[in-house]
Amino acid sequence: MMKQQLEAIRKSALDAIAHCDATEELESLRIKYLGKKGELTAVLKQMGKLSPEERPVMGQAANEVRSALESAIDSARVRLAAAKLEQQLRDEAVDVTIPGKPVRIGRKHPMYLALDEIKDIFVGMGFTILDGPEVELSYYNFDRLNAEEGHPSRDWSDTFYFDEDSRVMLRSQTSPMQIHAMDTMKPPIRILAPGRVYRKDEVDATHSPMFHQVEGMVIDKGVTMADLKGTLNTVIEKLYGKGTVTRFRPHHFPFTEPSCEMDIQCHKCGGKGCPTCKGEGWIEVLGAGMVHPKVLEMSGIDPEIYSGWAFGMGLERMAMGRFKIADLRLIFENDVRFLEQF
Ligand code: PHE
Repeated sequence: MMKQQLEAIRKSALDAIAHCDATEELESLRIKYLGKKGELTAVLKQMGKLSPEERPVMGQAANEVRSALESAIDSARVRLAAAKLEQQLRDEAVDVTIPGKPVRIGRKHPMYLALDEIKDIFVGMGFTILDGPEVELSYYNFDRLNAEEGHPSRDWSDTFYFDEDSRVMLRSQTSPMQIHAMDTMKPPIRILAPGRVYRKDEVDATHSPMFHQVEGMVIDKGVTMADLKGTLNTVIEKLYGKGTVTRFRPHHFPFTEPSCEMDIQCHKCGGKGCPTCKGEGWIEVLGAGMVHPKVLEMSGIDPEIYSGWAFGMGLERMAMGRFKIADLRLIFENDVRFLEQF
C-alpha cells in the first residue's frame, strides 16, 4: 500500500520535474514533494502504523525516492540555468550587420580651406608656419614695429586694451609675429603666421571686429621688392588661377619702407565695379613692404647685411576671392546652407 504511494509520488514528481521549464516552478515542485508539508513527508508520517519489520524496508524505500527526487531537482536546476543563460545571450546579442544610425558630419569652413591652400603653397616655397599669442604686449604690436607714441592705430577707439597703461592688448595685426620670429630665429628667415586679429570695427559687408590675417616674412641677404612682388603674384596665380590680375599701390606702414598694398581684380564683376568691391573693381587683400631698417636694428639684425620683406593678408578676403563669396558676413554667420556648399 505505502510502497504504491511512494511509487506514485516518484513517478508523478519525476514527470513534473522533467517537464518543468522555470526555476520558480521547480522550487514549488520541491516544496510540493519534499517540503515539511509535502507529499513524501505525509507518507513518512504514516510509518508509525507499520510493523517493526516493515518499517526499515519502507524507510529505505522512502529515502531512495527522496534522493531520486533531489538529484532530479538538482539536474533540472542546472538545465534551467543553462537555458536561461542561452536565452539571455540570444536576447542581448548585437547584430553587427545592422546599418548604423547616420551621423551628420560637419566640414571644414571655407576660410580654413583657403588657409590650407595658402599654407601648402608657402610651405612648398620653404616657409615655416608659426603660431603666436592673440593677447599681445603693445611692445610687440607697436613699439618694436616702429609705431611711434601717438600713432592713430594705438588709439583706444581702435584697439582693445586690457589695462589702463595700454600695455596688454588683443593684437590688432599679425605683424608682431615678425618680431617674435626675429627674436627667436636667425636669418635666413622665411615664416608664415596665420591667426586672429582684433580691431574696434563696426560690422558691415567688409568689416568685423575679429578677423584673420596671414603674416609672411622673408629675411636674407639681397632680398628686394621684386622678390616680394614675384612671390605674391605666384601665390595669387596658384590660388586663383593663371592670369589673375593684381595691382600694387604705394602705401604707408611704420614698419616697412617702402610700403604698398596689393589689390586683386574683383572676382564678382571682373573689374567693372559692383557692391562686393564697393564699385572699385578691385579688392584690397594685403599690406606689404620692405622690412624697415629700424625694425631690423631693434631685432639685432644688421640692415647693412640683411634685407627683408613682409606682408599681412586678410584671410577672409582671400577666401572670398577663392570661393567667389559676395559678403564677408557669410563667413562669420555659419549658416549651414552656406557652409554645405563647400
Ligand atoms: N600689419 C599690416 C596691417 O594690418 C599689414 C602689413 C603686414 C603691412 C606686413 C606691411 C607688412 O594692415
